[in-house]
Amino acid sequence: MSVINEYLNQHQERFINELLELLRIPSVSADSKYSQDVIRTAEKVKEFLQEAGADNVELLQTEGFPVVYGEKIIDPALPTVIVYGHYDVQPPDPINLWDSPPFEPVIKDGNIYARGAADDKGQFFMHVKAFELMNRTNTLSCNVKFMIEGEEEVGSENLGTFLEKNKERYQGDVILISDTSLIANDVPSLTVGLRGLSYVEVEVTGPNIDLHSGVYGGAVANPVNVLCTMIASLHDENRKITIPGFYDDVIEVSAADRAKMAETPFSLEEYKRDLNIDDVMGESGYSTIERASIRPTLDVNGIWGGYIGEGAKTVLPSKAFAKISMRLVPGQDPDKITELFARHFKSIAPASVKVEVRPHHGGKPVVTPTDTNEYKAAAMAMNTTFGKEPIPARGGGSIPIVALFEEVLGLKSVLMGFGLDSDAIHSPNEKYGIFNYLKGIETIPHFFHNYAELKK
Ligand code: BES
Ligand code: MN
Ligand code: MN
Repeated sequence: MSVINEYLNQHQERFINELLELLRIPSVSADSKYSQDVIRTAEKVKEFLQEAGADNVELLQTEGFPVVYGEKIIDPALPTVIVYGHYDVQPPDPINLWDSPPFEPVIKDGNIYARGAADDKGQFFMHVKAFELMNRTNTLSCNVKFMIEGEEEVGSENLGTFLEKNKERYQGDVILISDTSLIANDVPSLTVGLRGLSYVEVEVTGPNIDLHSGVYGGAVANPVNVLCTMIASLHDENRKITIPGFYDDVIEVSAADRAKMAETPFSLEEYKRDLNIDDVMGESGYSTIERASIRPTLDVNGIWGGYIGEGAKTVLPSKAFAKISMRLVPGQDPDKITELFARHFKSIAPASVKVEVRPHHGGKPVVTPTDTNEYKAAAMAMNTTFGKEPIPARGGGSIPIVALFEEVLGLKSVLMGFGLDSDAIHSPNEKYGIFNYLKGIETIPHFFHNYAELKK
């Protein structure tokens, strides 16, 4: 299919510039001060889809930010690929740690630096460009429908209802997603699992006002001290989570599968060097790869309370807060885990404080099979463009809607991502390699071709 590479070579500069345009709009879904920008981004995506040649392009309303729709139905007898992605991004904070402004993309050493470069603008836009390529070169071999949403980074909470309402519109054969990473640019991989998520915010209240820490300190519970003690008790000395029942439903990965995982190329030395840490830490009995993919976790994402301004203020705070996420693995149910957490957390609170637990968004874990047409089509496509068979790898992150694609639409997803774990998604200086961007655009048409062939 040299027509792919020819078109790609001819248009790659424009493909890059168009992505930069998209990256300039700060579509931060978590922060209402960006609401207009999020909507502007949806409109921009709509324009790009139209220009690429999609039909019936429109913004579909949800209870939150709109979903961008577009389609090309070339022949109802052919399989239909539904492309999912998200145009919203994480907040850019802490801004002062960026080497260049997060929404003024720059290209340096073959990478595009900007918030959303890899997660997920750079990745879903590969599909828009691959679609343009197939459409213009008359090589489109499947029907295609787009679902580019704007609330993934805040848990896709309105997308379930949206899916139910739009079931008919989204009839198809498979969901294709690029929102995950490769093991390395010379070690292609396909993601075959995502962790689920339970996310809560806790509030610990002591006295009704901030007190003088000399006058009252030592006699009245300090909510920050108490919260720290409570959080510390959530792991035991083996880094196992102590919430009763937490592991009850975990489906253990077989020894054979773990042995296979152990063959995944991985250098602990490099891992530590990249993160500038002297050692790793995690659940005993599991490797680093396992800890970050097939095991459930509990992490504090933020913690605050008391005086954090300049200088020292002697105060015994009235309140302390924390945001806590639990990554879940197959078998675990987010609602049940949230319930177990809330019950346990309240039970360990001393009588000297009051505790509130407020659930945020959640999502179910997924595993995808490797003996399907869609997996084979993706593996063959990567084999063609990377010159190597991709390794199936479980991912540690979450994409909440994937489990619902199966529940509501009855469709399996292919997680064919082209990012790298070192792309710093959600962190300062997020980047996406131009190699990765172009490799994705090159690989996607092969997926379409293979999938159509396998479905014949
Ligand atoms: N694209 C990521 C998920 C991801 C990244 C999966 C890398 C596998 C490898 C996605 O945008 C994301 O960040 N999801 C959130 C979900 C949450 C906000 C509900 C996550 O995992 O924290
Ligand atoms: Mn993403
Ligand atoms: Mn993300």
